[in-house]
Amino acid sequence: MALQDFFSNLHLLVRWLHILSGIVWIGLLYFFNFVNLPLQASLDDATKKAVNPQLMPRALWWFRWGAMSTFVMGWVLFTLKYMYAPGAGFGPTSLFSTADGITGRAIWILMGMTFATVMWFNVWFVIWPSQKKILSGQFSGDTLTALRTRAAKASRVNTFLSGPMLFGMIAAPNYGAVNPLTLLVYIAIAMFVIKGAYALSTKVGVKK
Ligand code: HEM
Repeated sequence: MALQDFFSNLHLLVRWLHILSGIVWIGLLYFFNFVNLPLQASLDDATKKAVNPQLMPRALWWFRWGAMSTFVMGWVLFTLKYMYAPGAGFGPTSLFSTADGITGRAIWILMGMTFATVMWFNVWFVIWPSQKKILSGQFSGDTLTALRTRAAKASRVNTFLSGPMLFGMIAAPNYGAVNPLTLLVYIAIAMFVIKGAYALSTKVGVKK
């Protein structure tokens, strides 16, 4: 990891940008689900009309571009770690597969990347298009309700996926070994914690 080693510096910078963007994205996802959801339920229509057109476009800008940056940096990071070796060029590296087949590390990261890519898809192709229509003010009644339900469902799916997704991200370089039981246990722990956070979100921080 010498200062003059271009590849190591590029790798560190991309990993840093990936995690920084991930904080922006997932931080806002948790804000929407654990703070804003219970808050909106307690506001009257007039307050919602005054607050949401100011709050939501700003929050959604950082949310969707945070998701895009995390996604792009994540795939670059995947290429740098698993599909490229300085001197040898492009192709699966020993981190991805060996003579014994695919590595535990690769299985963890592929699990994390699959979940995260579904989440990114939901942001750009379900949540944002629905929110854009909601914020345009052109829809009302059943159509508006359907748009809100669609966005809320995708957001809830993403919140649940975020737990196991993060296990995949951090287990890849730090844990390595994998078997179906390990995967299932960590997915279950993550889902359980997210469910607990939803339950907590309606109770904590409320002025009595
Ligand atoms: C959107 C698609 C995503 C892709 C394609 C992706 C891909 C990757 C890859 C390839 C690595 C390197 C793993 C290794 O060194 O073995 C990584 C690391 C990491 N990712 Fe992601 N990722 C994505 C989303 C996310 C999200 C949403 C977060 C949430 C914050 C996240 C958090 C992390 C963290 C913390 C690490 C570093 C783990 C460590 O160094 O211990 N990633 N990601």
